[in-house]
Amino acid sequence: MVFKKNILCIGAGYVGGPTMAMIAHKCPQYKVTVVDINPSRIAQWKSDTLPIYEPGLDELVKGTIGKNLFFTTEIEKGIKESEIIFVSVNTPTKMFGAGAGMAADLQYWEKTARQIREHAESHKIIVEKSTLPVKTALAMERILTSFNNGIRFDVLSNPEFLAEGTAIKDLEDPDRVLIGSSETPSGLNARDELVEIYANWVPKERIITSNIWSSELSKLVANAFLAQRISSINSITALCEKTDADINEVARAVGMDSRIGNKFLNASIGFGGSCFKKDILNLVYLCQYYGLEVVADYWERVVGINDYQKERFILNMLGTMFNTLAGKNICIFGFAFKANTGDTRESPAIFISKRLLEERAKLVITDPKALKNAMTDLNGIDGEISYIEDPYEASAGCDAIAVMTEWQIFADLDFEKIYQSMTKPAFIFDGRNILDHKRLFEIGFNVFPIGKPALTHLK
Ligand code: NAD
Ligand code: UGA
Repeated sequence: MVFKKNILCIGAGYVGGPTMAMIAHKCPQYKVTVVDINPSRIAQWKSDTLPIYEPGLDELVKGTIGKNLFFTTEIEKGIKESEIIFVSVNTPTKMFGAGAGMAADLQYWEKTARQIREHAESHKIIVEKSTLPVKTALAMERILTSFNNGIRFDVLSNPEFLAEGTAIKDLEDPDRVLIGSSETPSGLNARDELVEIYANWVPKERIITSNIWSSELSKLVANAFLAQRISSINSITALCEKTDADINEVARAVGMDSRIGNKFLNASIGFGGSCFKKDILNLVYLCQYYGLEVVADYWERVVGINDYQKERFILNMLGTMFNTLAGKNICIFGFAFKANTGDTRESPAIFISKRLLEERAKLVITDPKALKNAMTDLNGIDGEISYIEDPYEASAGCDAIAVMTEWQIFADLDFEKIYQSMTKPAFIFDGRNILDHKRLFEIGFNVFPIGKPALTHLK
């Protein structure tokens, strides 16, 4: 088969894998190769057990792998053979030196720029898929052109907006695809080539273009706005608990204003995931770098409220359970940072588990997809922890259940049966407000939702 163009993606993670599988599925005329420095990740992509759990992903990969979708560790060959290179490596928060705990760690990203420069033998379009600080494309261009071998590189910004758990749906039917380019003739040509790929399935009016700096910044701002909504509603949960107002009723009333909208107003234990915190801190760092301290402080509070919400949850558990958790068995319902994923990066469950262990509680953790990651996250932490997939078995003999992830299976459980098997008095702390609280109370539980009056038999 002769392909129209060869696409390479460097980084076979949560973004690179699904995004390239979608492009391969929608564009059989392109050959799509995904490379990674991690050979075991590549081996998993080629196996029956993919490295990530994402509804619909298995089918997509099965339908394209070996036809026009390929996974390999041969990075040099991939660079030589491709015309378009997506860079989708991780850009975590920097944990050392200047900007530690705030700035983006660009070492993985910079390494790919150098690899591309070293092995490229012809013109390439480089697409920033990773989330990066504003002006990164400039640095990329400087590295690529720092030794003049006559090869032209055009750098585009094409941030990814997919959310985990709904990645395939988000890729298939995105709200928008954003492409930032330089406004030179060659930048605009490169932009048009990328537009042509997406136009295979995304309506033209949803493919928007901008200058490259607006594109880079829009990604950070989109995540900051989304996280801000969660911190806003979570900040009000604290007030609801003091005033007997109900956060669901408040969210409904507020969200019905079409200017505000009703999405992303689910009160919770706090947001997790690999990106919200890192991207806000990245934005904060950028503001500080440009001397905009007041703007930096404003956005930093979004993370501050998130930390407050998790700590508040622990203090509430402690206070309610007679000011001691030592020796008590607590069942953690869910370890993933949200439902429908096995990803536990920055999951609130990690923080809550560690704090409960500090209080010398014993933990039983149950999750349908994230137990393996949970074991890695809590590896080496002092304390008694067991991991049990069956929630009935996990909660038997426990003093309390703490709901961390909004898995539908938890809402569907037989709580009468669970109550019978637990130590009394039995407590439920619903960090996601997914359970039927009235019914739980009737069964005999002491129920502590988020941002709603507690239902307790304790006098
Ligand atoms: P990830 O950690 O799952 O995947 C990154 C992959 O890049 C890893 O497999 C790593 O081995 C590989 N890698 C690192 N350096 C490499 C190199 N030099 N050569 C080849 N491979 C290399 O990360 P992710 O969640 O896919 O995120 C990637 C980027 O996309 C980040 O910037 C993130 O902010 C952004 N993003 C993530 C999501 C999400 O839902 N996870 C959504 C939108 C944007
Ligand atoms: C988020 C964004 O939604 C994506 O658009 C973005 O591409 C991605 O980050 C990224 O850049 O990585 P993701 O983190 O996968 O996606 O998942 P979300 O659905 O945004 O949830 C993030 C966290 O917020 C989860 O812990 C979730 O449980 C929590 N959340 C979400 C709430 O507590 N309340 C809500 O109403 C919504």
